[in-house]
Amino acid sequence: MAQAIAPANIAFIKYWGMRDADQILPYNGSISLNLDACLTTTSVVFDPTWDEDLVTLQFYQQEPQTAGGRARERVVAHLDRIRTIAGVTTRARVTSSNTFPADAGIASSAAAFAALTLATTAALKLDLDERELTRLTRRSGSGSAGRSIPTGYVEWYNGDDNGSFAESLAPPEHWDLADIVAVVDTSAKKIGSAENHLLAITSPYFKVRLEGIEQRLNATREAIARRDLTLLGETMETDAVSMHVVCMTQNPPSFYWSAGTMAVIQAVRAWRAEGLEAYFTIDAGPNVHVICAGSDRAELQRRLEALPEVSFTLANGPGAGARLVEAPG
Ligand code: PMV
Repeated sequence: MAQAIAPANIAFIKYWGMRDADQILPYNGSISLNLDACLTTTSVVFDPTWDEDLVTLQFYQQEPQTAGGRARERVVAHLDRIRTIAGVTTRARVTSSNTFPADAGIASSAAAFAALTLATTAALKLDLDERELTRLTRRSGSGSAGRSIPTGYVEWYNGDDNGSFAESLAPPEHWDLADIVAVVDTSAKKIGSAENHLLAITSPYFKVRLEGIEQRLNATREAIARRDLTLLGETMETDAVSMHVVCMTQNPPSFYWSAGTMAVIQAVRAWRAEGLEAYFTIDAGPNVHVICAGSDRAELQRRLEALPEVSFTLANGPGAGARLVEAPG
């Protein structure tokens, strides 16, 4: 039996577009920050007497449920991947719970697959270093989950299977930033990122996005190293808009933004013009992540909650990577 905790992460430079759907290789490198308040805890127990895997998911403030369908299949496929490496066929019980609401629009799959990979490899006593663990986590299907393994500020490199790993650029205490998630729409129909990763290449703007990506990756690394919020924020907003332009122009198109998304973007830009330095970024959903200095966190949270379009907010500081809570001796 082993238990692991892993954080969700927010990408400053997005992973958008899959070059290899078997190995889960991206078209571009990406950079993110782990979130300290959005965590998944997962326990994995192996028992030779069981003849089936059992997956139990407990969402925030809800009763545990036995997973079926696609959710279960994704977990079992990843268990199989790790069992093959360990050379075992033993069945497992997986129990997973989140510290954040399922409808907050925070990609819970990154935290979930990072925690699952760490707990499963520990339970099977596989001796993997951090780099190997990020590569294995990447192959779960949720590529961005590999970025939830290393600590703090993290880059995931574009490369072949060996070269496409994630590593920490700086620990959480390097830079006191805040990410306030402004939840604007809890009912939006989910459009999975998996299918859109394959459609990105059908957009005529995908080429334009990739042409600018190295410059934005360099600027983001530099902004983190120098703790330059202006450089980080401007680069991050450009990258988020570029990702969404690709979505809106792919074939068939996807529109993740709602009226509430636009209202938060406008508010953040107006506050910035008045001198409160904050920037937006948006993942595959309508909710807006607002990035600011840790010292402005309370003020921004208050302002965001006062917007009629915002249902609730969730504030995060920089977080550590995945860690084991319990492992076999
Ligand atoms: O790792 P996936 O397949 O869940 O895709 C993540 C996509 C974004 O969250 C939109 C961007 C990112 O890099 O996290």
